[in-house]
Amino acid sequence: GDSVYKYYSDGEWKKSSSGKSVAIINPTTRKTQYKVQACSQAEVNKVMESAKSAQKAWARTPLWKRAELLHKAAAILKEHKAPIAECLVKEIAKPAKDAVTEVVRSGDLVSYTAEEGVRILGEGKFLVSDSFPGNERTKYCLTSKIPLGVILAIPPFNYPVNLAVSKIAPALIAGNSLVLKPPTQGAVSCLHMVHCFHLAGFPKGLISCVTGKGSEIGDFLTMHPGVNCISFTGGDTGIAISKKSGMIPLQMELGGKDACIVLEDADLDLVAANIIKGGFSYSGQRCTAIKVVLVMETVADALVEKVKARVAKLRVGPPEDDCDITPVVTESSANFIEGLVTDAKEKGATFCQEYRREGNLIWPLLLDNVRPDMRIAWEEPFGPVLPVIRINSVEEGIHHCNASNFGLQGCVFTKDINKAVLISDAMETGTVQINSAPARGPDHFPFQGLKDSGIGSQGITNSINLMTKVKSTVINLP
Ligand code: G3P
Repeated sequence: GDSVYKYYSDGEWKKSSSGKSVAIINPTTRKTQYKVQACSQAEVNKVMESAKSAQKAWARTPLWKRAELLHKAAAILKEHKAPIAECLVKEIAKPAKDAVTEVVRSGDLVSYTAEEGVRILGEGKFLVSDSFPGNERTKYCLTSKIPLGVILAIPPFNYPVNLAVSKIAPALIAGNSLVLKPPTQGAVSCLHMVHCFHLAGFPKGLISCVTGKGSEIGDFLTMHPGVNCISFTGGDTGIAISKKSGMIPLQMELGGKDACIVLEDADLDLVAANIIKGGFSYSGQRCTAIKVVLVMETVADALVEKVKARVAKLRVGPPEDDCDITPVVTESSANFIEGLVTDAKEKGATFCQEYRREGNLIWPLLLDNVRPDMRIAWEEPFGPVLPVIRINSVEEGIHHCNASNFGLQGCVFTKDINKAVLISDAMETGTVQINSAPARGPDHFPFQGLKDSGIGSQGITNSINLMTKVKSTVINLP
């Protein structure tokens, strides 16, 4: 029927008193798939109050018990992988197998975070005073890590489950409470995931999930005085949030324009395979997707031929059929991608395939001979279209990479490890992958962007640390 998914507050599923809902459009059918509650500001206030009081008791709950509950939630999440994956298919058109992988990876992430939290939060420091000039050994300092309070988590549409739990699990293990604001596309997947935490038996109010329109509750949430830390993954909105939020720690992963620098001695089959995986998986809708190929002119023809042959084998179609290329998330996203393609065409880029689009479905496209005056040389399509820029020196490639306002990841392909390390050092990005496509995982690796790509560092260990503060007690000896 015309049912609207409830939001989660105080350990209960509730209807919003606004009486309004938000429609979630299936990217494939372009029809309304689900509806969620359009929560009001008063409902956000209520959630914040509960989060604050639940956190106090949670911080006193023994660490091992917090870990135990997280392990339980992880197991339940994995048991529910099929229905959650189905939501991912319908809401964000993620290929069926990748949707299941996202949920399983999320369960693993939650368990790993519980283990890591037990290890790193189970240790503090002990300092003595007489190392600093002028001091006798009369002061002993004991430090430990304490929670921040209420964490606001805002994940993006492309990994609504995984990038939600990568914020929820570290927040909870460290003794914080958590308020989740899911993206519109992906909201129902998030609600299902939250249900798994509900089933695990976390205390009331510790986790809440508010759905609704950004225009109504977006700024209200991010500027709310009850929020003690914001963990956000997404686009430009993050920059706006960072300007409006108060004096609280921020963890942000925003856009990227990850470069793939290909040297003359590279294994071109390996490069081609990684360009396909890095540039076209989930139709290029990953922050860490390869978004520009910078290849030495001498090997460019050979590489482009190899990539073309592999692009021809990509299966294009609905996510239910587990196609490689599926419809992009919204019509406006498809229009934006098309704008970049049109601009490149007008300015003389070489189309390696014919440009083709049906609704939100865009066929994979490799654009050769892209030049710096084309928008696609700099902008992030978040779609299955990939520019190739031919370079005559490695320096030219590094220069293009560093001229970007983004600095998430990048990759370099060469058999010369010394060169690779020097290039990595020269690239102004948070991570450089040598001989493989950029990727966030394994999820305990540090993950961070420079410049407009983000603030703070993620990865399980870094997220736990970011969501805590050091507390010290000094014993003064007579
Ligand atoms: O776009 C989100 C970003 O976190 C990418 O993750 O796992 O695809 O490298 P991954």
